[in-house]
Amino acid sequence: MIDKIRQLTEQTQAFTAKSAAEIEEFRIRMLGKKGELNALMEQFKQVPPEQKKTLGGPINALKNAIQEKLATLKAGLESAEQGPQSDDLSRPGSNDRLGARHPISLVKNQIEAIFKRLGYTVAEGPEIEDDWHVFSALNFPPEHPARDMQDTFFIEKNPDILLRTHTSSIQVRVMESQKPPIRVICPGRVFRNEAISARAHCIFHQVEGLYIDENVSFADLKQSILYFAKEMFGEKADIRLRPSYFPFTEPSAEVDVSCNLCGGKGCNVCKGTGWLEIMGCGMVDPNVLEACGIDSKKYTGFAFGMGIERITMLKYGVRDLRLYFENDLRFLGQFDSAIGG
Ligand code: DAH
Repeated sequence: MIDKIRQLTEQTQAFTAKSAAEIEEFRIRMLGKKGELNALMEQFKQVPPEQKKTLGGPINALKNAIQEKLATLKAGLESAEQGPQSDDLSRPGSNDRLGARHPISLVKNQIEAIFKRLGYTVAEGPEIEDDWHVFSALNFPPEHPARDMQDTFFIEKNPDILLRTHTSSIQVRVMESQKPPIRVICPGRVFRNEAISARAHCIFHQVEGLYIDENVSFADLKQSILYFAKEMFGEKADIRLRPSYFPFTEPSAEVDVSCNLCGGKGCNVCKGTGWLEIMGCGMVDPNVLEACGIDSKKYTGFAFGMGIERITMLKYGVRDLRLYFENDLRFLGQFDSAIGG
């Protein structure tokens, strides 16, 4: 029996193969059910106990040698399949395809970077909120339509737990926990019960801004937004403010930026007006300051809020909101890292 083992060991050492089929044939001959190794094991069972000690070691060594041989031959074959190029040291490296940031993250990062340059810090808050932070502290009267089931996704009623409908809830949390001067921007995801279309979605993103200190004026608000518009849309960008209404600001305004596609002459994107709406803003209503524990006689402030999807649409000419959520690589691939952010 020891001779058989020696013979098989020599055969294993000498074995070479040119194809996967030959390797497989060798494996079956040696390790298969009816193969050499099993035959040896059968014989081994019959051997008297005193001989088992001397034969066990060599059989194991043979088994290991066969397995090692198979592994080396397989590895050799695989590297040979890659062809002679693998030895060509002058061959240019293969390019790893870099992923692209999602356009919403890209623009969110740009907005954050612009306001950080003005000394703002970033604050975040929970997506599941209570009535106080989303509505009551922000001076929404009890009968305000935004509190309606039609607009808001409620998780529980009485006391109301809901998905935030705007990031203005974060400014409440910041004012409750920090003392002025406060200068924050609050990016985040918001939820509204809307039918999904090219122009509306039930999930979208906003960035809220809040600046509170002594003697903050409407002129400061206007100047900050003009700076933002020029940084975001280019040096030629201009803004105009239209009077508006929000429960949490007084006075309130809506901000338009000059259309960057036609330079203000009028085109189908700006519907011939030369202007595009980009955000809401205003001076923080004293009721809001007081509700959040800030002395409205000493401090004033401004706030603004914008939709990231909308800014992205205007900046990159995206015409359909649904594209942001479909994860179609043909769309996402157009925003490669070269755009920055
Ligand atoms: N929260 C408003 C919205 O969702 C946006 C907004 C408007 C925020 C005016 C503000 C503001 O802070 O002053 O439509």
